[in-house]
Amino acid sequence: MNKTTTTFLAFFFAVFMAQANEKNISSPDGKIQVIVGVTAGNQPFYSVTKNGKSIIQSSALGFSIVSEEPELSDNVEIIDAKTATFNETWEQVWGEERFVRNHYNELKVYFREKKYKNRTISIIFRVFNDGFGFRYEFPEQEAMDYFIITDEKTEFNIAGNPQAWWYPSHAEGSFGESIYRHTTFDKINVTAATPLTVDMQDGSFLAIHEANLTDYASMTLINTKENILKCELVPWANGLKVYARTPFVSPWRTVIIAGNAGELLTSRIVLNLNEPCKIEDVSWIKPMKYVGIWWGMHIGKYTWDMGERHGATTENTMRYIDFAVKNGFGGVLVEGWNYGWESREHDGNYMNFVRPYDDFDLEKICKYGQTKGVNFIGHHETYGAVLNYERQMTEAYQLLQTHGVHAVKSGYVKDKFDKTEWHDGQYGVRHYRLALEEAAKHQIMLNVHEPVKQTGIRRTLPNLMAQEGARGQEFNAWDNGGGNPPSHTCILPFTRILGGPMDYTPGVFNFDIPHPKARVQSTLANQLALYVVLYSPLQMACDLPENYEKNMKPFQFIRDVVTDWDKTIVLNAAIGEYVTIARKDRHSENWYIGSITNEEPRDFKIKLDFLTPNAKYVAQIYADGKNADYKTNPTDCVIREINVNSKTVLDVKLVAAGGQAIRIVKE
Ligand code: NOJ
Repeated sequence: MNKTTTTFLAFFFAVFMAQANEKNISSPDGKIQVIVGVTAGNQPFYSVTKNGKSIIQSSALGFSIVSEEPELSDNVEIIDAKTATFNETWEQVWGEERFVRNHYNELKVYFREKKYKNRTISIIFRVFNDGFGFRYEFPEQEAMDYFIITDEKTEFNIAGNPQAWWYPSHAEGSFGESIYRHTTFDKINVTAATPLTVDMQDGSFLAIHEANLTDYASMTLINTKENILKCELVPWANGLKVYARTPFVSPWRTVIIAGNAGELLTSRIVLNLNEPCKIEDVSWIKPMKYVGIWWGMHIGKYTWDMGERHGATTENTMRYIDFAVKNGFGGVLVEGWNYGWESREHDGNYMNFVRPYDDFDLEKICKYGQTKGVNFIGHHETYGAVLNYERQMTEAYQLLQTHGVHAVKSGYVKDKFDKTEWHDGQYGVRHYRLALEEAAKHQIMLNVHEPVKQTGIRRTLPNLMAQEGARGQEFNAWDNGGGNPPSHTCILPFTRILGGPMDYTPGVFNFDIPHPKARVQSTLANQLALYVVLYSPLQMACDLPENYEKNMKPFQFIRDVVTDWDKTIVLNAAIGEYVTIARKDRHSENWYIGSITNEEPRDFKIKLDFLTPNAKYVAQIYADGKNADYKTNPTDCVIREINVNSKTVLDVKLVAAGGQAIRIVKE
């Protein structure tokens, strides 16, 4: 269980005069101020300032709930308001940092329709020092029982025409696996996914996202004609958005307000707006590094289907287990172990999650792994046939649990679930939650590929370890467009990973990709740095064991790096250009630094003033060699050791698409 180390909860109620048309609340440090009210036309709105400067101008709130009834946003009055303050520090089961501060002031405003049915709705704002969140609450009431949301009218009205980092949401398919766009708001011409990151062009940044997406549709953002971003809920196939019944709450709409790009990464608003951990015994939830029978399929060496080049054979899996044991990996992922792959393109409904292929001895493999302390990581590729998966889910998790397995990677590679529904509509959101809860019952950690976006649910159900949900390393094996551009990994921490950890699967050591057009556009030192830069409690070493065995010196960094952190510090950052992150191991006094750049070479001075004063450390540095070139000579990596302390300033040189990975060991 999460342990609350200090808890301070004080509610103070202030009942405002009915009919007053504006309420306000500030962040604990008084810098951010939120105003909630009703317009002259009796419609709810909110606005936000920081240090007196506008962040969000007057923006609409409210809903259309069913087409034949008047919209709930029409003609309301404020009937009451209450405030509260909350301050605690809680401990993560695993994470980017061990202790998280949750400190906010809350304002709950009660609205009532002036006409029609006198329906009531409340809007709750929580204002933190680094941003705010708000959610709608539909209380139980006679005038409203079952209802259907056809539109959520929430707006984010940011002055001017700022720049955003964004990508198209569901409407373009491909479950978020797009290249990020960097444009002004007026160029956002399709629905954009969140987290959407806004460059306010004065050095500060916003990230618009949501927290605790539960039995609701994902929020995407459309640009109205005035460059106001408006919530567009992902619809069901019939065009409706959310089926609900009072009492009901929406997810939180969240905005991080960061003084610089690095501060985006250290905000924990999204986690704080989720419920505490619900799993009593978390002893089976363990961050780890893993290897797997996987990259071989993507580069064409193996097949998923049973046959001559089948990857998931008993013998090959045992070889991977031996490699994992020798090099300290906690798990071996095996894709293509089960019947169904042979007919997958025909129909995902034939995927069978309980019947291993004939050349794969599940029992023998699991036993072999267990005797050596390595977990078999099961793989459930649904091909989007979600009902087929749900039908087998309990039995499938049960089977793995019986064999002592605690981790599954799941996959949903079709754009529509059961051929009709988006991944991120209410249908998909319900499915992913069902799978997560069912997995928890069987002590299974999930790593979800082609997921619905993360919204901090991992706080409540920390068996949701990592997700994909953006272009991962796999594109570098087969993308006709040439693989991920070097800027991609310099964007992910400030966009996709603000939602939660990403299973990017770093660690390519053999850059000779057989595909005629795909390439890994980075140096080897950059691949190493990704283990620190791209946060995930599950980190894969994606390449083939034979490629690591040929190159054991740089592989040592992957053997050493950890995946669970005590602290995270962003040392420098410019979105899409470069980023340097330092993280302290949760279980030792050692630190790790990862630094990466886009197509531009960089030269940084990095101060180690975060180290314990007067203590001695040794830094093991994995740097781009003088002749490193991501196009012609990516593997030139120079390794050296130096003594460092809290006064040391490191000279960090990165070539184009290069990187540097550093392990700092306390003596
Ligand atoms: C897409 C996933 O991202 C990838 O990791 C997996 O190998 C394939 N689907 C097959 O399930």
